[in-house]
Amino acid sequence: MNLSDSFEKIPVQIFKSPSEGSISTAHEIAALIKEKQSRNENCVLGLATGSTPIKVYDELVRLHKEDGLSFKNVITFNLDEYYPIVKDSPNSYWYFMHKHLFNHVDINPENIHIPNGEWKKENIRKRCEEYENEIEAAGGIDLQLLGIGGNGHIGFNEPGSSLLSKTRLLVLENSTRIANSRDFLNLNQVPKLAVSMGLSTILKAKKIVLLAWGNKAQIVAKAVEGNITDQIPASYLQQHNDCTFVLDEIAASELNAF
Ligand code: PGA
Repeated sequence: MNLSDSFEKIPVQIFKSPSEGSISTAHEIAALIKEKQSRNENCVLGLATGSTPIKVYDELVRLHKEDGLSFKNVITFNLDEYYPIVKDSPNSYWYFMHKHLFNHVDINPENIHIPNGEWKKENIRKRCEEYENEIEAAGGIDLQLLGIGGNGHIGFNEPGSSLLSKTRLLVLENSTRIANSRDFLNLNQVPKLAVSMGLSTILKAKKIVLLAWGNKAQIVAKAVEGNITDQIPASYLQQHNDCTFVLDEIAASELNAF
């Protein structure tokens, strides 16, 4: 179901299952990569981690292996990374991205950018500035993939984050650490800090696709239909001119239009 022409403040596509929404999104990304290839241009993707986008990456890997989709012209920038964390940790987002996508496609490793959980603390400000500069130098993000936290965060921009925020070191909310503790042995092991693109970084992307499945219905409805507020960072996406929410029926179930 396509609610793009309805009264929603953000266009919404609703699929029967996460799998269908993920496959559709992967095909949209593949089409963009190929369109850019046909013009001899790079395709700059902003990528997300977490449980939500895994099937998108599965389908992109399948398209590479079975349909010959090449990632040679793809440049990626990940949204965020825990801090501190070593790359080789199974909990790092560096590890996640290699496991789910990069190890299985023909992307040039030099084109992969992920905030580094091993940056020295005294250099972080400078490294974050460089991250912003690298995005600019690549020509800006063509398509940014997002998930949404139960508290409305995008990237790790927790409630209260400024619309002007850029890539920076920040403190994770307890609710975020609890949600993410499923990947760790216990809550104490979840880092308290992270490096994340800011809201202004995300909103500069030319196109944004936010995915949400299952139990995200309440926060999705607030982000799509509520007022814009720094207490729900995803509500700022209402101000973007090419942002779509891709939902399954459960995540869409609190929308008035649905
Ligand atoms: P999830 O996380 O995909 O694991 O639900 C999303 C997020 O916190 O942005």
